[in-house]
Amino acid sequence: MSRQYSKQTIGLEREKPVRAGFHRSIYDVSVLPEAVLKVPQYAAQDTVYGPFKRTLRRLSPAGRYRVLTKEASFQMNLVLRYPREADALPIPEFRGFVATSEGLGALWQKITGLDGALGENLRDIVKARGITDVLEPLNTFAVDMFRFGIVAPDLHAGNLVLEEKPQLRQFYLVDGFGDRNVIPLRSMSRWANDRSLNEKLAKMGREVGVTWQTEARCFVLF
Ligand SMILES: Nc1ncnc2c1ncn2[C@@H]1O[C@H](COP(=O)(O)OP(=O)(O)O)[C@@H](O)[C@H]1O
Ligand SMILES: [Mg+2]
Repeated sequence: MSRQYSKQTIGLEREKPVRAGFHRSIYDVSVLPEAVLKVPQYAAQDTVYGPFKRTLRRLSPAGRYRVLTKEASFQMNLVLRYPREADALPIPEFRGFVATSEGLGALWQKITGLDGALGENLRDIVKARGITDVLEPLNTFAVDMFRFGIVAPDLHAGNLVLEEKPQLRQFYLVDGFGDRNVIPLRSMSRWANDRSLNEKLAKMGREVGVTWQTEARCFVLF
């Protein structure tokens, strides 16, 4: 797929983002049926930055791509570390970079529901029909986060998307992974990352109405 699209610029002038955040927009474009496209809001960044950041950007122009490259390298390093278990990783597969009319974008595996459209995120699922039905895939997700040592500073229900296939339901963390600190403590130490995961999962549990049990490493309904 990346070879096929690497020579063309994806025009986003007429595309409506699935989500237009402050930092980036997410697109589901028909020419890229198996991927979602994430494009940083380059123009907005330039207008809000103060003089210090602007100087930094001038001296280090690649800095504007840092978020894109950090997430991508985190995912690719995981695949290198767990080559035989790549399919079980609880984060989507990075599919490459692509030129768009809004600047450089990143392509990520599209997590889909039964109808092939974008999957639902946990926050929306809980709002629509409660947590009980997805407790099992949520617990598998939590166990996999520890198993693969996923660094997840921004773990919350809005960033978990459910993939649904006839025989399989699996949550993916689509955003907010990879170490953001100057000293990547959580990447360096399993112990530090496990502690952080326990805190984040407990907080997310409170958000969606379940209790995180640290010792048993699972969510329960009371
Ligand atoms: N790979 C993906 N597959 C399916 N849906 C996604 C994917 N990435 C993002 N989404 C959807 O878009 C929403 C926003 O994406 P996210 O990457 O969290 O961006 P941000 O938080 O920066 O706005 C998610 O809550 C999810 O519903
Ligand atoms: Mg998000």
